[in-house]
Amino acid sequence: MGQLSEPLGSRLPHVTVPPPGPASQALADRLRRVESRGVTHLTAHWPIFWEEAAGTNVRDADGNVYIDLTGAFGVALVGHTSRLARSAIAAQSERLIHGMGDIHPPVSKLELLERLALIAPWPDAKVILSSTGSEAVEAALKTAQVASGRPGVIAFEGGYHGLTLGALAVTERGHFRAPFERRVYGGVGFAPFPDTVRDGAEGGAVSLEAVQRLLSSGAPNGDEIGAVIVEPVQARGGARVPPAGFMAALSDIARSAGAILIADEIMTGLGRCGAVLASSRVGLVPDIVCVGKALGAGLPISACLARGAVMDAWPQTDGEAVHTSTFLGHPLACAVAADFLDVLTTSDLAQRVEEEGNDLLAALTERLSGCRGVADVRGMGLLLGIEFAEGSGRSVGAGSRVAEGALKRGLIVLPAGDDGHVLELTPPIGLTHEQVHFVVEQLAEVIEEVL
Ligand SMILES: Cc1ncc(COP(=O)(O)O)c(C=O)c1O
Repeated sequence: MGQLSEPLGSRLPHVTVPPPGPASQALADRLRRVESRGVTHLTAHWPIFWEEAAGTNVRDADGNVYIDLTGAFGVALVGHTSRLARSAIAAQSERLIHGMGDIHPPVSKLELLERLALIAPWPDAKVILSSTGSEAVEAALKTAQVASGRPGVIAFEGGYHGLTLGALAVTERGHFRAPFERRVYGGVGFAPFPDTVRDGAEGGAVSLEAVQRLLSSGAPNGDEIGAVIVEPVQARGGARVPPAGFMAALSDIARSAGAILIADEIMTGLGRCGAVLASSRVGLVPDIVCVGKALGAGLPISACLARGAVMDAWPQTDGEAVHTSTFLGHPLACAVAADFLDVLTTSDLAQRVEEEGNDLLAALTERLSGCRGVADVRGMGLLLGIEFAEGSGRSVGAGSRVAEGALKRGLIVLPAGDDGHVLELTPPIGLTHEQVHFVVEQLAEVIEEVL
């Protein structure tokens, strides 16, 4: 166990009070009084309150030190409180903190847009900026509608695209939709995402047939399909990597039907899967790409990128923007994002993610093979998943039980999958060999203990 005096960054966990400790519990009591109960998950075992974070480490309000295997929802790819973010924020904050995104734009907005256009898979990309992933998805769905002239959408079971009303319509999970069902757009048809654990490569064919059917029949409300939205690797759906050839076939089918293909790369993109865009790794050929999370290295910023011809379907603004928001092109977030993209495109960041991801995957696979309840260990780059099964079915809630046990051992990790049957790992880059060994051993022990 690491020593209290060592700075945070690449330490082993140091848990002195069983989490959540008294300080976190007292903060939870205060939170319960002032925050809507639909937001933070509060139980006797959850949550800890973060006070400080650096690199791969987090310190909670009780002084416990953890390894963060979530990268705080996949955001902290380059580590928490990174020097990159701190220096860009410091420099930009001396000059301009807030601007007028769509009226008199900050220079930093243009500098970011030019960089984003360069990472797009087309030579003539144009971009809409926003602050959260959900908003980038909203912009993508609007763009697809103006370009195709057809409002209907195909999305995938288990996919997660955000919770604002437009994004919620393409997010399939009942838990998020149920209270709002009558407000949610009914022109979305869902196809199964290939389940390689149960169906092997066959799952791909079943899924493609469903897509083909929806393209011909239209959405459940009768609307014609104008767009298909998909994650190159389903992230919150349980780190589900599609079978070889699936995404290329999906791209062909969508294109033949004249549907716009949206790659939601909010989790998978910008290095997380060992490439600038994961689409290139899985054979997906999109017309629109959404990015977010890692882009701002901790600041809220996201973007919808599209082929020039697709984005040019938008009507020309005539003094009143057709689409914008108060914080669009926020100078602080743009400055950090531009620096992050410079690092991503001029260094070996993505390659190092790939190597670290491969090492972690190999170590987990070796230690967990034959472990009771473990059905699959998989991933791409530093987006990894451990799937749990009971008999021939999914082990419902197993991911949550493992995550609670792991927290007590100083590991922050989250469940994923429709049934909470997966443990998802999206750590920052830079786990040391000692940390990897610790993580693998502790996760194996927790799994053996709780399953
Ligand atoms: C693939 C994907 N799309 C969209 C979103 C929504 O992003 P946000 O929570 O920033 O609105 C997420 C968030 O987890 C995501 O993983």
